[in-house]
Amino acid sequence: MPARRRPLDFVRPHLLTLAPYEAVDPPDMLAKKAGMPASKTAKLNGNENPYGPSPRVAKMIAEVADMHIYPDPAQVTMRAALGAFLSVPKEQIVVGNGSDEIIDLVFRCVLEPGDSIINCEPTFGMYAFTTHVCGGQTVDVERDSEFAIDVDAVLAAVDDSTKLIAIASPNNPSGNCTPLEDIERLLTADVLVLIDEAYIEFGGTSVGTWVENHPNLIVLRTFSKWGGLAGLRVGYGIMNSEIADLLMRAKPPYNVNQASEAAMLATLSDTAVLNNRADLIVRERGRMSAALARLGLEPFPSEANFVLCRLPAGRGEAVYQSLARQGVFVRYYSRASMADYLRISVGTSDQTTQVIDAMTQSLAE
Ligand SMILES: Cc1ncc(COP(=O)(O)O)c(C=O)c1O
Repeated sequence: MPARRRPLDFVRPHLLTLAPYEAVDPPDMLAKKAGMPASKTAKLNGNENPYGPSPRVAKMIAEVADMHIYPDPAQVTMRAALGAFLSVPKEQIVVGNGSDEIIDLVFRCVLEPGDSIINCEPTFGMYAFTTHVCGGQTVDVERDSEFAIDVDAVLAAVDDSTKLIAIASPNNPSGNCTPLEDIERLLTADVLVLIDEAYIEFGGTSVGTWVENHPNLIVLRTFSKWGGLAGLRVGYGIMNSEIADLLMRAKPPYNVNQASEAAMLATLSDTAVLNNRADLIVRERGRMSAALARLGLEPFPSEANFVLCRLPAGRGEAVYQSLARQGVFVRYYSRASMADYLRISVGTSDQTTQVIDAMTQSLAE
């Protein structure tokens, strides 16, 4: 009798060597590692909103009446509210369990094994990660030393296998936007163009309303950053209504839960408060960048809620470890070209002071 197959024998072979997405640890785990209470640490590695959600969010979640009933799979209320907020037709909107889920959905719907996306590293890791899960390939057109996209090189890289160009604007981890005229040129390619605007409330101009005239454009937005809802997972895509309709059919039916829906609607009812907080974050970003520059470091100009900072050559990992020992958690990248950089999320004013004090100490070690 032939030997029975083992569970992993049923898995798609290319997934057997899949490297996991490098996510950030939760605060209590980080605090435990640093050996200090979470209240003494500064978690500045996830680009979360230091002010949390609108105060209306907890109240609206507490009022959710029918938790035993599935949420609306057609997202009627959320799509209408977002359509009004964005001045785009609701048929162009799909809401996800974070914008990560929209990336996952789009890629699963368009990529067949052997298909490729054009990725512009260094950038948000989910585009490459999801492409690999789907069995597709990434064609990397590296950003230049100022983290700008080489539009000519991207357009030249498009071939028969290309399905999509993925661009984060503002880009994570560099914080710079892609100029609107460059996005316009990228849209001339005969492929889908995904513009990820996760940080758009902190700088730059949204191209969400361009979908009307550009059927190949998909714009991603999220409530995780501006809205302070990273833990509740609400993001969305704005796209041609035919693609939106397809994603609505292909998504898990109840992908956004009732608490997340209530949180999203509460956030949309309180935009002035969130916009004021975004202003505070932008101001604090300036203060932190200036302070880092005074320490002799090179903060890269940012339009997002984080700052990418260049350290003296060869010091990146040691400074990252030293900051962590002092309870300041920032993002370090294993990628060779980023070895001298740390990405620091913008926190409260007190957290900026903590970062600068810890950085002063780390640089002196
Ligand atoms: C560029 C970019 N896009 C999307 C996301 C994911 O956002 P969400 O929390 O909506 O899944 C992030 C998160 O850090 C990001 O940096």
